[in-house]
Amino acid sequence: MQPVSRPGTSAVDRSASRREFLGAAGQAAAVTGAATLFSGWAIPHVHAAGTDEIRVALIGCGGRGGGAAVDALSVPGAPIKVVAMADVFRDRTDIVKRSLGEQFKERVDVPEERTFIGFDGYKQAIDCLRPGDIALCATPPAFRAPHFAYAIEKGVHTFMEKPVSIDGPSTKRIIELAAKATEKNLKVGVGLMCRHCDRRAELLERLRNGEAGELLSFYGYREHNPPHNLDLAPGPQGMDELLWQIKRFHNFLWASGGIFSDYCVHHIDEVCWMKGGWPVEAVAIGARQLRGKIDDQNFDNYGIEYTFEDGAKFFYTCQVMKDCDSKFGLWGQGSKAAFAISTSGHSPARCAIFKDQRVSKDNVAWAAEQPEPNPYRREWEHLVAAIIADEPYNEAVRGAQASLVTAMGRFAAHTGKKITYDEMLNCPDDLTAGVDSLTEGSAAPLVADSEGRYPVPMPGKYKYEYRS
Ligand SMILES: NC(=O)c1ccc[n+]([C@@H]2O[C@H](COP(=O)([O-])OP(=O)(O)OC[C@H]3O[C@@H](n4cnc5c(N)ncnc54)[C@H](O)[C@@H]3O)[C@@H](O)[C@H]2O)c1
Repeated sequence: MQPVSRPGTSAVDRSASRREFLGAAGQAAAVTGAATLFSGWAIPHVHAAGTDEIRVALIGCGGRGGGAAVDALSVPGAPIKVVAMADVFRDRTDIVKRSLGEQFKERVDVPEERTFIGFDGYKQAIDCLRPGDIALCATPPAFRAPHFAYAIEKGVHTFMEKPVSIDGPSTKRIIELAAKATEKNLKVGVGLMCRHCDRRAELLERLRNGEAGELLSFYGYREHNPPHNLDLAPGPQGMDELLWQIKRFHNFLWASGGIFSDYCVHHIDEVCWMKGGWPVEAVAIGARQLRGKIDDQNFDNYGIEYTFEDGAKFFYTCQVMKDCDSKFGLWGQGSKAAFAISTSGHSPARCAIFKDQRVSKDNVAWAAEQPEPNPYRREWEHLVAAIIADEPYNEAVRGAQASLVTAMGRFAAHTGKKITYDEMLNCPDDLTAGVDSLTEGSAAPLVADSEGRYPVPMPGKYKYEYRS
């Protein structure tokens, strides 16, 4: 999880000029294709009101929402200001407002009248924006589609965190909304920041140039101690159950797609980027060995075999268990050589191509230059460059596809059945049905039985993950 304030990376260069911004944006544009529009130094006025300020409404003021706001405000020289916040918990807006205010002072102007608490808060926050501003959506993924829909309706650009969808129906909703955003010439960034990593981009270019030969297989791991408690005990204890489930969104499939969707989407997306396609099917196993007092809806380990159209494989394991070995990384094997895509964390990636199939420090043919630009910053530089240059920029379909193929792995493990891309996309089980009409006091989407237990996936038992 990215904290609100990250020592060493949160400082903004307040003296950065727009000239510097355009310099940085020009580099970004080289990646996004926007370079041709940066022919002069003046930032075009992007608002009818005649100001070049880009306002941001932060929706979901948690760890990542605060971190993404820091990243937005850190785009060198960009005329960005945070003007509104929305959350379902007051303390979250207070914390993020204070933290951002300390770091960015007058560029965070969120008075009480532009602070909105509750399920409708996102609408009120977006209503504070003008066409051309940015809705920054960082709630749990269950709410992504309705929040994105309202941003589009109001003519504002969107940055939304991953995963953007968690099943077939929510993926279709995002894909349909993406088309509407494009029709309205709105820019959409998705928080799959590894796609904005300069070193991974260089690795991709080298792979495309054949340095590893034909890409045959990929493998990766995300195995660590639980950063979130997987035991729901002692339960809501008098707290509003809906809000309690939202607070513990990693534990409930409707809210997040669970830990697999939430944690693994980056790695799965990175492989698909390198491979240049989406897997056509997935088979998987998974289990829950450690029982809590009240089990959540996650397994504590997953093992997926994805198959691409040309038969290439991607083997991936995710384990979230206490006191076991940790492993985090992503590698591939080409017909000539092995390569590393992500090692030890999302950033730095420390990409490499080896001399042959031996993955070893003494066998490196090419290693990515260090240090590496921060991809969380780069994704914002690219989005803002596209907004200012008014270049086409819409990552929503790609983000939805990455989210869908991640859901394929989870679904295959939870059901114990093979699933194809098309079957997942057309699977009617709608985990987020009705979330757009939730209000304070609504029943939670998942109901516990009379003994306080929630329905859990049981491979082979149900048509869908925990229900038929
Ligand atoms: N790109 C990355 O590397 C990265 C890292 C961490 C998290 N994320 C993603 O960011 C999202 C948020 O994760 P987080 O770790 O910040 O969680 P969090 O719990 O810290 O923050 C979520 C915030 O959203 C608020 N919220 C929930 N429902 C809401 C609603 N309907 N309206 C308004 N506010 C609402 C919560 O109260 C909370 O403050 C997730 O989708 C997660 O996968 C991405």
